[in-house]
Amino acid sequence: MLGIRKVTKKYYKGAMEFTALDNVSLEIRKGDYIVISGPSGAGKSTLLYIAGGMIRPDSGEVLYNGGNIYNLAAKEKNEYRKKHVGFVFQQFHLMPFLTVKENIMLACYEKSLCAKIDTLMEQCSLTGLRDKYPSELSVGEKQRTAFLRAIITEPEILLADEPTGNLDPANSEILMSLMNDFNKKGGTILLVSHSPEASKYAQKKISLINGKIVINH
Ligand SMILES: Nc1ncnc2c1ncn2[C@@H]1O[C@H](COP(=O)(O)OP(=O)(O)O)[C@@H](O)[C@H]1O
Ligand SMILES: [Mg+2]
Repeated sequence: MLGIRKVTKKYYKGAMEFTALDNVSLEIRKGDYIVISGPSGAGKSTLLYIAGGMIRPDSGEVLYNGGNIYNLAAKEKNEYRKKHVGFVFQQFHLMPFLTVKENIMLACYEKSLCAKIDTLMEQCSLTGLRDKYPSELSVGEKQRTAFLRAIITEPEILLADEPTGNLDPANSEILMSLMNDFNKKGGTILLVSHSPEASKYAQKKISLINGKIVINH
């Protein structure tokens, strides 16, 4: 479904060059649940955002159903991000002046996508919080809102960058269980996480060190 082929990405700071990803290849199939771990600075976020059509690699390809997303016109690349990919970040990135329900509705690019919002909010234990603002929520509630915003559009692939990084163990478990449900219903997940609890549902675990995949089991 998503083929990351020989992707290299360098960053430049003045005259300094830093290789964040070094010739990385990864095959993601429909229904996969892959967890990526590795030390800080290893290139994990870069890999996730390259997969999501947000950072153009210097070389290599990201093939979505056979075509390189970085060869698409801007409008089509936007469509890929909007319709086929869901993102969850460690820092939630909710809109502060929108309520829980409004934040989730932001992602609904078609009215029909919001049809299931009440049922899904119930499943994520957010019903009673629908009219609250992010500043009134606990971190667990914020992340469940961000998760639902990411999956309300039924994306083929969910990209999650250390989503439990700010959560306590109980809230991490709730989020991981919701992500597992998404996977069981056919959703594909690429999850960056260090925590063993976070990876227990994953079928495939890989490690990134210095921009290279070192363990692939
Ligand atoms: N925009 C940027 N400009 C310069 N260097 C960057 C930029 N983004 C990331 N880096 C560097 O690239 C390396 C990999 O970053 P990242 O993908 O965020 O790693 P990880 O998520 O594994 O911590 C780090 O050393 C980081 O400092
Ligand atoms: Mg990171």
